[in-house]
Amino acid sequence: MACGFRRSIARQLSRVLDLPPENLIKSISAVPISKKEEEADFQISVDSLLENSSNHSRLNIQNKAVRLAEKLKCDTVVSEISTGQGTINFKINRELLTKTVLQQVIQDGSSYGLESELFSGLPPKKIVVEFSSPNIAKKFHVGHLRSTIIGNFIANLKEALGHQVTRVNYLGDWGMQFGLLGTGFQMFGYEEKLQSNPLQHLFEVYVQVNKEAAEDKSIAKSAHEFFQRLELGEKQALAMWQKFRDLSIEEYVRIYKRLGIHFDEYSGESFYREKSQEVLKWLDNKGLLEKTIKGTSVVDLSRNGDPSSFCTVMRSDGTSLYATRDLAAAIDRMDKYNFDTMIYVTDKGQKKHFQQVFQTLKIMGYDWAERCQHVPFGVVQGMKTRRGDVTFLEDVLNEIRLRMLQNMASVKTTKELENPQETAEKVGLAALIIQDFKGLLLSDYQFSWDRVFQSRGDTGVFLQYTHARLHSLEETFGCGYLNDFNTSCLQEPQSVSILQHLLRFDEVLYRSSQDLQPRHIVSYLLTLSHLAAVAHKTLHIKNSPSEVAGARLHLFRAVRSVLANGMKLLGITPIYKGYSQYVNSGYI
Ligand code: ARG
Repeated sequence: MACGFRRSIARQLSRVLDLPPENLIKSISAVPISKKEEEADFQISVDSLLENSSNHSRLNIQNKAVRLAEKLKCDTVVSEISTGQGTINFKINRELLTKTVLQQVIQDGSSYGLESELFSGLPPKKIVVEFSSPNIAKKFHVGHLRSTIIGNFIANLKEALGHQVTRVNYLGDWGMQFGLLGTGFQMFGYEEKLQSNPLQHLFEVYVQVNKEAAEDKSIAKSAHEFFQRLELGEKQALAMWQKFRDLSIEEYVRIYKRLGIHFDEYSGESFYREKSQEVLKWLDNKGLLEKTIKGTSVVDLSRNGDPSSFCTVMRSDGTSLYATRDLAAAIDRMDKYNFDTMIYVTDKGQKKHFQQVFQTLKIMGYDWAERCQHVPFGVVQGMKTRRGDVTFLEDVLNEIRLRMLQNMASVKTTKELENPQETAEKVGLAALIIQDFKGLLLSDYQFSWDRVFQSRGDTGVFLQYTHARLHSLEETFGCGYLNDFNTSCLQEPQSVSILQHLLRFDEVLYRSSQDLQPRHIVSYLLTLSHLAAVAHKTLHIKNSPSEVAGARLHLFRAVRSVLANGMKLLGITPIYKGYSQYVNSGYI
């Protein structure tokens, strides 16, 4: 944050160590609340300052810490300097800490933490984030759901950090499934159903035609012919395909909107039908295509170390494959966006695919392949809705809404809610996202609706409650007290812990921006909510002298603001109005 405490400490250290302050800033970290044995706010570990820290014994490092600390002096910012295990600890002048943090949080609003010295010197980049990418007429499975929320988080974070982000949805909108769909639709498709519920109807047609094709060989043949017509660009077939695609996208847009997600580009494999042929020609001309005994063509990747490694780019009939289209798409996006980074978000099952695509690009002489990054995530088992396994995104959203409404119905005052459906959906989605973002993205986990919706404990429901509760506090007392504000009234341990925690927000954002893992932000927000719950119980506003009440209100307002910022980055819409009755009803 622009609080500048880190900078002041770095300046002090730089004098003693004879190093430029800029080199020290990132090594100075805010002490996490859970690790607070002392009251220090920041620390620097001494081994981060030593060149070959492994050559130094612990005793040596400790001595070094003590000697260094002796040379440092307290000033108007730092009120105490001490040493921990291999660290030098700094306590910030309490009045200054309170005033600066609260002012900064309130002044910076949604950019609090994002303008920190930790991010300075990072120029804005052009970033393409490709995510969600379902396959038309096929299942929208849990993997697509994860890709959707993870990709959205990454795009939000990058955008918040000032980068220019392009959000791309790369649809599975080409291939044999459209041959089958074309044939199937002629047999059992209904125009009205297609218009009113395209995703559902196309899926039904697809399932049915597959079933029939297993028994009747002529169906496979006509599907093949239909796809051939598409590949050749025949007008009628293309018009049908186009209609399937357009109607599907229309519905996707509407459903993504329920999630608060938008895309800048609906691309798809179909875009690269011709361009992938160009890629194949190019590879062939350069002598990089090798025919296998099976008749397929591959690019040899063994020069990258693995002798058995290759990328299959052409079927024996000359048609392109998934990887070929990805090669063409990457090259096209480079032309179009001139990106500094391109991020692909899919399940870990596609890890090898992306490795091969990136390596092939490199062999083709595209050094920018290094700017491409695959963000893989693990498998979620056991997510079921009333209709069974997840088939449509909309089913998941409906299930969330329904379950949340049921939970809420067990509380009497719910009827008073202005818009219970919408509230239920927002709280439920928060619950789903927090559950998903808690662990390492790469870990697999077993899904449980009960765990998702627990109101106590570390869930998205708890975050939403806390947010709404704090908001209702502002609504109840806000106007009267907010001008009256004396920082010396916030010296109880509960207040100081909150301030210390708020101080760490930039570091948490920095961490997530480095490894693209949302869990740092999730655990930060959960801790913040727990701290707020404790403070809410003990730091009363009602019946407190007005300057105490005003200071506390400021503190709670700051907590709510940072909570909202963090939630929005994760893709959660914080709940404001109409929820306080529910919250105050004692559900939590
Ligand atoms: N449509 C693919 C699937 O459902 C995901 C696409 C991932 N992106 C890519 N550029 N290959 O598996």
